[in-house]
This record gives sequence, C-alpha cells and structure tokens, in this order.
Amino acid sequence: MKIKIYYINLFSRLFSGKNLRTFWDIFYKITSYSILQRQNDRKYWPEEWKKIYYKSYSKNKEIAGSLFTTNEIESLITSRRSSRKFNNYKISSADILRILLVSSGIASPNNGSKMQKRTYPSPGSLYSLNIYPIVLNGDGISRGIYHYNVLRNSLEVLKEGDFREKLLVISPQEWIKYASVVFIITTSIDRLYPKYNRRSYRFAFIEAGHLGQNFYLESFLLGFNCCAIGSFLDEELIKLLDLTNSKEAPIYAITIGK
Ligand SMILES: Cc1cc2nc3c(=O)[nH]c(=O)nc-3n(C[C@H](O)[C@H](O)[C@H](O)COP(=O)(O)O)c2cc1C
Repeated sequence: MKIKIYYINLFSRLFSGKNLRTFWDIFYKITSYSILQRQNDRKYWPEEWKKIYYKSYSKNKEIAGSLFTTNEIESLITSRRSSRKFNNYKISSADILRILLVSSGIASPNNGSKMQKRTYPSPGSLYSLNIYPIVLNGDGISRGIYHYNVLRNSLEVLKEGDFREKLLVISPQEWIKYASVVFIITTSIDRLYPKYNRRSYRFAFIEAGHLGQNFYLESFLLGFNCCAIGSFLDEELIKLLDLTNSKEAPIYAITIGK
C-alpha cells in the first residue's frame, strides 16, 4: 500500500506544474497515429466492431419515455447524421464564415461584456481551441489553408494551394477529396493549464466535442453534409499547419460538402 502511494505521489509531482507540458507531449505521442490502421474501411472490420452495446437493468422496474421529438431543434438533433457524400461543391467564403460563426464564434458580439462568450461551452471560458479551415473546393475563395480569426470573424490566409492529395496522405479516406472544406481543430492546451492543471487534458477534448456537434448541426441546417475525422497522421498534420515548434496540437477535424 505504502509503495503504491509513493508511486502515485511521485507521478503527481512529475506531471504537475511545469512538467505538465511533458505529460501532454507523452500523452499526445503515445496516442498519435504514425501509420493508419484499417479502421476506416468497414470491409476489414471484425464482427465485434459492428455491435452497438446497450446497458440495461432488465430486472429492475422501469419508466418508459416517448420516442418522438416535438420541435425543430429536437428534429435537427435527431436527424443529424454523418454523411460522406461530397461532390466537389464549391463553397463560398460567406457560407464558411457563417458556419464558423454559428459553430464557434462570439455569441453576442455587441453585448458590451468584456467576457466574450462563444457558441460552445468551454472550461472557464478559456477557449483552448483554434480552427484552420482547409478549402478544397471554393467559390470566389482560393484553395488553401486559412486560420479562423474569432474576434474579427474572418479568414486569415496561411497558404494558398491545392492540399487534397496531401490530406489524403494524412487521412486516407477517399471521400475527403470531394469535400468543400475540412476544418482542422487544434488545442492550445496551455490556455487551460494555469487554472486546471492536469484536468486540462480531459477538458480540451470535451470542448472539442461540443464544438464538433455545433459544426454538424449548423452545416446540416444549411444543407451541407458533414463528417468528423479522428483518424489522421498527427505529425504530418502538424507539419502541414506549420505547428512543429508550437505548443498547439491538432485533435479533431470536421469535413463538410455537398
Ligand atoms: C471522435 C470521432 C472521430 C471520427 N472519425 C471518423 C473518421 O476518421 N472517419 C469517418 O468516416 N468517420 C468518423 N467519425 C464519424 C463516425 O463514424 C460516426 O459519427 C458514427 O458512425 C455514428 O454515425 P452518425 O454520426 O451518422 O450518427 C468520427 C466520429 C467521432 C465522434
């Protein structure tokens, strides 16, 4: 027992304060893909990957609920699906910015408050996430990599060019190249450390999940198809975004198109 407590204390000391960075680096590294497994192709899936489990206390008394939705927001949530049906639809910058504003922008820009809350929940309103739209098929907007400037609700041009083949190497899923735009979500987890210490690891991913759902709902509402991407070669994506010497790391991506 004493030995166990000793190791717990040692571990806590090692991975607290200034060493949090090291813990993040280790965590990110050991959960990174360097080659992509065949998870994305259903034909390689064993039977157990296709089963959905439902927990049940079948011997207990139960209270049954209605299976019907009653309003538009409920219908939007229940009809949301991941769709990879993309056909090189050329998206306008106005649509990209509208999706970004509603999914992730400042919720009430003119309310005069110093604390500018956004459209998704964030631990302590610290907003650790950054968004890099990669435009693959644009109408009046060049193909390339952009950064979403939240305060100005604008797109900042980072690199112009066709990144479809590069993205297919980073995440070999054929349908991606027919999409309109891929939103890469990174975390600057250092924004969370001072307040939350090692709890920050949990919080960054929860925050990204909330943001991802907003992307799904808003793009669906505007008639776009949408699919999340969690499988990508981390180091390759870091290089593409020129984040090699940065404390930011990609954790999620959302693809939209028609
Ligand atoms: C964290 C996360 C990562 C995902 N990564 C991928 C991916 O790399 N490729 C893909 O085709 N779908 C991906 N998806 C979409 C799921 O396959 C999809 O949400 C799931 O099949 C449920 O279907 P639905 O979204 O239509 O309800 C991901 C979803 C989540 C939440």
